[in-house]
Amino acid sequence: MKRVQPRSPRLLKPKRTVSIIGTGSYLPERIMTNAELERMVDTSDEWIRTRTGISERRIAAKDEYTSDMAAKAAKAAIEQAGISPDELDLIIVATVTPDMPFPSTACLVQRILKAKRAACFDVSAACSGFVYALEIAQQFITSHTYNTVLVIGADKLSNLIDWTDRNTCVLFGDGAGAAILRNRSGSHGVISSYMGSDGNFADILSIPGGSCRMPLSPEVLDKRLNTIKMSGKEVYKQAVNAMLTAAKTALEQSGLKAEDLACVIPHQANMRIIEAIADRMKLPLDRFLVNLDRYGNTSAAAVAIALDEANRTGRMKIGDYVLLVVFGGGLTWASSVIQW
Ligand code: ACO
Repeated sequence: MKRVQPRSPRLLKPKRTVSIIGTGSYLPERIMTNAELERMVDTSDEWIRTRTGISERRIAAKDEYTSDMAAKAAKAAIEQAGISPDELDLIIVATVTPDMPFPSTACLVQRILKAKRAACFDVSAACSGFVYALEIAQQFITSHTYNTVLVIGADKLSNLIDWTDRNTCVLFGDGAGAAILRNRSGSHGVISSYMGSDGNFADILSIPGGSCRMPLSPEVLDKRLNTIKMSGKEVYKQAVNAMLTAAKTALEQSGLKAEDLACVIPHQANMRIIEAIADRMKLPLDRFLVNLDRYGNTSAAAVAIALDEANRTGRMKIGDYVLLVVFGGGLTWASSVIQW
């Protein structure tokens, strides 16, 4: 009988460093301003800007789907990394707005990119999805399973917003961001990562209807249960606590202090959440990358778009320590310290 050869223990292999070798992002062309929202619901530019920091957001075209935005962000990241789609071993798309329940959005992106060697799957962790996916990619690379992984955060929340609910419709936008991760031993890269969840808070931020538990029906549509439902105040409180825990944990694991960070890239949900975190971390606000004024909360894409912006505008210098810290429905939260 043929004997199965035991695989050599992975821990004996040399330790790998996982570097981000390219980033990309895509924002739909159409800009929706606060003034436009004033004409749709009982709100004001002043209320939206003072309570959230958002001035405008991008809205995808009717026939522009999460996979289209994801593939455009991915192409930009692939180009910057100087690799061919053939070199991708794995594609992970973090999204809560897949084009359809299956196939995964990652498979649809693979088809567009012609990345024929890649394995593909989606990750569902709401706004924390991109940092969750980064951690998954990092684990695959450090375990010597894969060398080159494409990680994308992409969401088209405009399809799942109740455009008559002023409590939520002013907050969100559409977009996609991507990063290519590769083994680069001896180089800079991901130093520490942390992920957390608490399903006890599942109901404070959710889309209750339109899936298997509550399939689309006239009643679901009538009550708009297939759109985002949120207890804003509760989410706010949990967001600040969870992001602080995530930031503290990834920093402790990295052996760094907050003041060592050259740049913090937080989830782009609300300026007041970012200010509260800066205050509690005793860091100046200008250390935080903020683009929610232009894009609103783009869910899993938000931190990925901000990372690309920080990269392309030279906000992060080689050797800088950068913290990604996110929070989302689930509840979920995650963080990562990277040496750029
Ligand atoms: N325009 C005008 N008035 C509004 C609007 C609006 N767009 N939205 C709510 N209001 C009203 C409310 O109805 C309320 O009126 P009332 O006092 O007559 O009842 C009043 O403004 C105050 O409402 P609050 O909920 O107390 O306002 P708050 O200061 O808490 O701000 C907000 C609301 C912006 C939603 C805030 O709670 C928040 O940012 N929470 C976190 C939301 C978030 O981050 N969500 C996503 C994170 S996770 C993810 O990304 C999926």
